[in-house]
Amino acid sequence: MYTEKVIDHFSNPRNVGEIEEASGVGEVGNVKCGDIMRVYLKIDENDVITDAKFKTFGCGAAIATSSMVTELVIGKTVEEAFKITNKAVAEALDGLPPLKMHCSNLAADAMHEALKDYMSKKGS
Ligand code: FES
Repeated sequence: MYTEKVIDHFSNPRNVGEIEEASGVGEVGNVKCGDIMRVYLKIDENDVITDAKFKTFGCGAAIATSSMVTELVIGKTVEEAFKITNKAVAEALDGLPPLKMHCSNLAADAMHEALKDYMSKKGS
């Protein structure tokens, strides 16, 4: 049912945890299941994401997609990271079962919220 990449990222999630004094933090909840995901980003003065961590209180697919999204954004600029979609995260995991596609919505959404948080802090 799950691809090898999903099982790998679920069994051995990358970048679990929090970043103290993060440049941006984003949190989203999934209304369908009540699961919550929080993404922390560290961004340097050139708008490059140097670190990303996550905490997910959710199902296996939510954990795998959070893990993948942190891997995808590290080293990217804020502008590039805004372009990473939920679909791109699912594709990077070689797909998710149709029933679990809604779980992947959390990952990119939480990351985008963290970027928006960074932008608003920077602008203020
Ligand atoms: Fe809640 Fe997957 S069942 S995020």
